[in-house]
Amino acid sequence: MVNPMATATHASMLGSANPGATAPAVSGDSPPPLKAESRGLDFYYSNSFQALKSIDMPVYENKVTALIGPSGCGKSTFLRCFNRMHDLYAGNRYAGQIVLHPDNTDLLAKDVDPIEVRMRIGMVFQKPNPFPKTIYENVAYGLRVRGMTQKNQLDDKIEESLRGAALWDEVKHRLGEMGSNLSGGQQQRLCIARALATDPEILLFDEPTSALDPIATASIEELVTELKKKVTILIVTHNMQQAARVSDYTAYMYIGELMEFDKTDTIFFKPKRKETEDYITGRFG
Ligand SMILES: Nc1ncnc2c1ncn2[C@@H]1O[C@H](COP(=O)(O)OP(=O)(O)OP(=O)(O)O)[C@@H](O)[C@H]1O
Ligand SMILES: [Mg+2]
Repeated sequence: MVNPMATATHASMLGSANPGATAPAVSGDSPPPLKAESRGLDFYYSNSFQALKSIDMPVYENKVTALIGPSGCGKSTFLRCFNRMHDLYAGNRYAGQIVLHPDNTDLLAKDVDPIEVRMRIGMVFQKPNPFPKTIYENVAYGLRVRGMTQKNQLDDKIEESLRGAALWDEVKHRLGEMGSNLSGGQQQRLCIARALATDPEILLFDEPTSALDPIATASIEELVTELKKKVTILIVTHNMQQAARVSDYTAYMYIGELMEFDKTDTIFFKPKRKETEDYITGRFG
């Protein structure tokens, strides 16, 4: 079904904030530097169902961008395009571009290696999913794929990554234990450390706290705020308070389209579209 309102918004959002790009205009001051942007991004599952429709969206450097919208609107699908996760299944098809700055690499280009993309753009899933390996080996995984073999180099990088994920003090004496021995919140931070080990430029979080209790959730939110000093973050959440707490920018999606994108404060307090307001205030979705 085509949503005529969404189509109109899409056209009106093609702003001139970033010359040469087709990113939506953002209210207020000039936006920060771009880390990435999707340009006319379409995505089809199994060569048939179109889950994303011509999405133009900026991703600002060292900022947190929240993706919100009703279940099934395409948030996870959009997120997974950024690290070429969909390539793992035959028949999935992208059209358009995801351009990574400053080198202007189109992450979706045929000659770009998806494995290298996944080193530059890490992902953390809804349910903590440590590998069936030790804490040490979970974090070492990406480093070994990259060819790091020297123990002292690995040790240093693993400590740095675990510190970056605010987990080091809790696990430094038990690095040889299985990752699955940790609590849910610790496992999620282990997954963050694993993603951080390859020095990613962007981290993708798909509802990273929905399986966690409020205390573990608070520690992940704090961590996201800390991490954005070094890395650009995209986070999917169904929790409006969480989006308001952690994000700088918010994208509201609906049935495969980007309905509204703006600073989080604007989306929450002065959205341009009634549909966005209805979703945020819980009247819909
Ligand atoms: N592997 C798949 N094959 C076919 N269609 C899929 C597949 N995964 C998702 N879809 C469809 O694509 C659309 C977008 O799904 P997606 O998982 O991206 O939504 P979402 O916004 O993340 O939802 P939720 O909030 O429930 O996680 C939905 O209609 C969904 O049914
Ligand atoms: Mg999802």
